[in-house]
Amino acid sequence: MLAIMGAMDEEIELLLEGLQGREDLTRPGVTLYRGTLDGVPVLLTQSGIGKVNAAMTATYLLQEGATRVIFTGVAGGVHPDLRVGDIVVSSDLVQHDVDVTALNYAPGTIPGEASSWAADEALRTVALEAAGEIEGVQVLEGRVASGDQFIASKEGVRRLRETFGAACAEMEGAAVAQVCAKAGVPFVVIRSVSDTADHDAQVDYRTFMPRVARHAKQVVRGMLARLGAGT
Ligand code: ADE
Repeated sequence: MLAIMGAMDEEIELLLEGLQGREDLTRPGVTLYRGTLDGVPVLLTQSGIGKVNAAMTATYLLQEGATRVIFTGVAGGVHPDLRVGDIVVSSDLVQHDVDVTALNYAPGTIPGEASSWAADEALRTVALEAAGEIEGVQVLEGRVASGDQFIASKEGVRRLRETFGAACAEMEGAAVAQVCAKAGVPFVVIRSVSDTADHDAQVDYRTFMPRVARHAKQVVRGMLARLGAGT
């Protein structure tokens, strides 16, 4: 079963509207929606914001039988070429707020665990194809940096570029990646750029977020058309 996650209303409601035969599965803190989207059986859910919500919700999805996970939503662009509306497909993901450097671990490294998680090749390919169909936006495959922080400064952007080589910043993807990797379940994160994570980030985010969230939704529907019943 294919699972589709988003953090916020705007990221999920457009998909929820299209869900046929909807069955609500109530779990502590979150509801999972089971049904058929464009003819494909899916689990759909809104995790809420941040890594803890994302990890918890991903765990419920896996318990419910998810065999592939797509996370869709918005992000702050960190790569200098990215503009509002552009799309990032995750190559891999890091947790930029993990800091055990005092014990000589590299930034982002959880002792005894990975320091980054690679997204699934096949899902990436399908996501890139689907994103390529959206006119007027640039599509970049790159590293997604997640942390429990809204990045809104030049220094923040510089740190994510220089320390992690990040393409964009968001608050959930790498938590989903960590949970899925532990279970051996393929995943990909698709983000449309709502702001460029600098001093204008708050204003841009509020202005553009609902609009660009549509791009991520379009990518998901393009993926469904390609993945079809094989999910
Ligand atoms: N999601 C959208 N914009 C973001 C930003 N600037 N930082 C973190 N998460 C975001």
